Amino acid sequence: MKERLLKIRETATEMIESSSSLKELEDLRIKFLGKKGELTDILKGMGKLSKEERPEMGKVSNEVRNHIESILSKIKESLEQEALNKKLNSEVIDVTLPAEKVNVGNKHPLMKVFDELQDIFLGMGYKIAEGPEVETVYNAFDALNSPDDHPSRSTSDTFYFAPDICLRPHTSSVQIRTMQNQKPPIKIISPGRCFRFDELDATHSPMFHQLEGLVVDENVTMADLKGALDLFVKRFFGSNIRTKFRPHHFPFTEPSAEVDVTCFKCGGVGCKVCGGTGWIEILGCGMVHPDVLEECGIDSEKYSGFAFGMGVDRITMLKYEIEDIRYLFENDMRMIDQF
Ligand code: PHE
Repeated sequence: MKERLLKIRETATEMIESSSSLKELEDLRIKFLGKKGELTDILKGMGKLSKEERPEMGKVSNEVRNHIESILSKIKESLEQEALNKKLNSEVIDVTLPAEKVNVGNKHPLMKVFDELQDIFLGMGYKIAEGPEVETVYNAFDALNSPDDHPSRSTSDTFYFAPDICLRPHTSSVQIRTMQNQKPPIKIISPGRCFRFDELDATHSPMFHQLEGLVVDENVTMADLKGALDLFVKRFFGSNIRTKFRPHHFPFTEPSAEVDVTCFKCGGVGCKVCGGTGWIEILGCGMVHPDVLEECGIDSEKYSGFAFGMGVDRITMLKYEIEDIRYLFENDMRMIDQF
């Protein structure tokens, strides 16, 4: 019996030491130490031994079992280490290789300006209001006090889907939507796309962008309008920029004005950007016409307000010195990547 045990010890050691995979190792464990394994098989014969022989055989078989177990775990460990090394080697990263170029894209200059405008007005306490691009003629013209024969209503100026539905020619329609749905105090801006039947050229596009502003409350005066726009201009163009209000006419504001700013490029001396005048026109504005307030159910004796609307494409072109409005919409990465 002892010989058989020692023989098992020998073969097991040999086979285990030469095994080359974890799977093979597990098979050997079962072969020698498993319930139906060779060692167990021999131990079954223990009963036949004499009392004197038994302790001796017990000792030997324990030693054999311990030996096989320890060599199994030793080989297992080294096989695992080997597998890990192999994996690490195959996954080696050469940190000196140049990285693959990740193109994260770039914000369109127009969207940058929109973000900046919104930041400034949100900082001044305005909220953002939105309105649809497909608009009722009532919101786009009628409620804005626009006379029936106003040229901007004509089919050569405005795109119509039906006699009472059009593509909004300005964001001023959001003034109506806001005032009809909300009581004063109102303080909103509304950025968005507008459409007019314009021939496409360097300064005109049938699709363009505006940012509307509207403030309605008790005791709102023209001084508030001037103060608000002056602050906005200084924040957007720079603290040294001055504003000039020129009388103008809009059907929905009274009085109305256009606002010019001193040229941020030449400081007012006159250059190519400002066309030699030293001034740049940036927006239309005025005090909300009492008829417009009343049309929206707001008491024009108690409340007053101001509104303004600026062309965002134009402001973007000025700010980034883009010469042609078409560059904004052609999606040419060579242009967009520059900003
Ligand atoms: N809606 C006018 C335009 O498109 C601009 C404007 C807005 C003027 C608000 C006065 C008040 O030219």
